[in-house]
Amino acid sequence: MIIFHADSQQFHLYNDQISYIMQVMDNGQLNNLYFGKTIKDRESFSYLQEHYERALAPSNTDKSILTLNYTRQEYPAYGTGDFRFPAFRILQEKGSLISGFVYQGHQIFAGKKDILPLPSTYVYQDHEAQSLEITLFDPITQTQLILSYCLFSDLPVITRHARFNQIGPATIRLQNAMSLCLDLPDMDWQMVHFSGAWGRERYLKNRTLEVGIQSISSMRGSSSSEHNPSFLLKRPHTTEFSGEAIGFSFVYSGSFLGQVEVTTHEETRILLGIHPENFDWQLKTGESFTSPEGILVYSAKGLNALSQTFHTLFLRHLNQSKWRDQPRPILLNNWEATEMTFDQDLILKIAAKAKEAGAELFVLDDGWFGTRNDDTQGLGDWFANTDKLPDGIKGLSEKVRAMGIDFGLWIEPEMVNKNSRLYQDHPDWLMVDPDRFASPSRHQFILDYSRPEVVDGIYQMLVEVIADSKISYIKWDMNRYITECYSNHTPAQDQGKVMHKYVLGVYDLYRRLTTRFPHILFESCSSGGARFDPGILSFAPQTWASDNSDALDRYRIQYGTSFFYPISSIGAHVSAVPNLQTGRVSPLATRANVAYFGAFGYELDLNHISPEEFEEVKAQIAFYKQNRPIFQYGTFYRLVSPFESHGDAAWISVSPDRQKAFAGYYHKLVRVNHMGVRLRLAGLCPDTKYQVTSKHYDRHHYGDELMNVGLVIDRRILNELGGDFTSILFEIQAL
Ligand code: DGJ
Repeated sequence: MIIFHADSQQFHLYNDQISYIMQVMDNGQLNNLYFGKTIKDRESFSYLQEHYERALAPSNTDKSILTLNYTRQEYPAYGTGDFRFPAFRILQEKGSLISGFVYQGHQIFAGKKDILPLPSTYVYQDHEAQSLEITLFDPITQTQLILSYCLFSDLPVITRHARFNQIGPATIRLQNAMSLCLDLPDMDWQMVHFSGAWGRERYLKNRTLEVGIQSISSMRGSSSSEHNPSFLLKRPHTTEFSGEAIGFSFVYSGSFLGQVEVTTHEETRILLGIHPENFDWQLKTGESFTSPEGILVYSAKGLNALSQTFHTLFLRHLNQSKWRDQPRPILLNNWEATEMTFDQDLILKIAAKAKEAGAELFVLDDGWFGTRNDDTQGLGDWFANTDKLPDGIKGLSEKVRAMGIDFGLWIEPEMVNKNSRLYQDHPDWLMVDPDRFASPSRHQFILDYSRPEVVDGIYQMLVEVIADSKISYIKWDMNRYITECYSNHTPAQDQGKVMHKYVLGVYDLYRRLTTRFPHILFESCSSGGARFDPGILSFAPQTWASDNSDALDRYRIQYGTSFFYPISSIGAHVSAVPNLQTGRVSPLATRANVAYFGAFGYELDLNHISPEEFEEVKAQIAFYKQNRPIFQYGTFYRLVSPFESHGDAAWISVSPDRQKAFAGYYHKLVRVNHMGVRLRLAGLCPDTKYQVTSKHYDRHHYGDELMNVGLVIDRRILNELGGDFTSILFEIQAL
């Protein structure tokens, strides 16, 4: 799978789906020759390196016309004749930024190493992957650079990261260290990324590449709802079902940069890594820095195939918990029902009704601790507010458990309100510049998780609550971004480490809590979906997708999220109408038809719906229990994009044996006097006869018919169902 041809000095990483080829050039540096669909191995692909004499093109060696600006490089440096953005930047004591890393050796081995303390993809057995470590060395600074590659055996996936080891006596400053660089020989691509804001996270954006730089990024200290650290390039004609695409994803939860640079020679460079702004890592003799993991996925069969590879990778090779491929409990969360205004009696009533409806887990959200009666106070005081909850979390959790339903708890461990006991005890734990104004956000401040003693203090407090109570689920929230990034107890020359160390502190707490409480299901949240990324997914197998629980908005969010993240990782709940965020009224059936395609639950007080609606909820829960594996772990295909044409959407989830599937069709607005919809399905067996049923449909079709002709949806049925914001869920069962 990974071959080194000594004569040509070329590496060929390949499986039956992809090839990745690079070589050690005459000057000792590494260049990339090809990444794409598998091609047969041969001794040399040197013809892929284009050598021309060009005007204004500096030569990198005395002996040849090697011009790095026209060379597709693996991990390019600044100041060597390549005028594109470099993959790294090293500032030396004398002020020079020039570096020159040359090949020293390499190692090929079976399996995949961890890059602790960072999360990364993993394999259980060595035959599942093969790895390559290429060691380069800069003799002037005496710095070692190790570029690591891992090729998965049965997936079109390559993971990468870089490690800098300072061997020499000088101190260097690493001011940029991307996780991956990929140079492509043309610009005939579109960049698809998932961007938005609070309440409209991961909306699909598609831009045709232009000469110059296009990028997505976060400088917020977390991956953010504004841009997601996963994006893709696709050919202009690539569809969901055909054509080339390359996916890029970053196993990291902090500030990031995903950049696509197109040169005036119409070549494309992709960089992905920690955002260089506010990153400055001093390395003394014997010290190292390892970048987080970047992931490359190739698809020759369109975007659904690309997404399915990411789903498989993230499901089988990323999350560490026992929950990673387990059916996720149907939960009811009290947040939208009560916000912080509740007492024990009310909570028990809500939980009891959830149990009666068949839910499996009740989650107590924000407001249970300290003096937390509104969002100006209490954060950081992780002990129960006994005015509201006289029996504490211990007593409450036991009471809920005694009803026959599990108990889950909300926490926001990275934050503090100034009006709290924690702040009184530890005013210096805040991540602020003491000489400057500290910007509050939702009246709260960030704790300085770059300091181990802060992480430790919070860990101790949380362990006390969790260990003492019957908790089977934790919702870990994070409701503000980092502003005045400064660590009070860190020397000046190490302030550039603080942003990254903060993220390492978050991972440390996650690792400690998930190790100490392996039975607990963790759900990540950040004002909804502001930290939905592979780094967090490594610890928390599901993430609350958005605070916007409106069905129409939600199917857009879930649609965008599905490009990279498994359906089981998408927290999706049915909430009350009029919707809290949009005021929109959508049918209960639509709200459920959207939420089924996720980690399903409810976000309302079931005591406040009509008896008819309660019966409907009971039926929904019973139905979901029967079919949960198909929704959460089936093979998922996007069918109709809500970001195109009329805003309707459709998708399908198919069981592994293709005997059963569920397809959801979501209708935005009524369009008068139009033809019916033809909904072409996917993933079925062409020769199998299926029974297709929904409320208004009951017919037999062969798979080929369903996939090529499509289901005909009569518009009058959509009107009968209620018109705007209606939906149809089709059950497709092999006969
Ligand atoms: C933001 C989350 O997204 C909500 O679900 C809720 O947990 C609130 N925070 C609580 O403050």
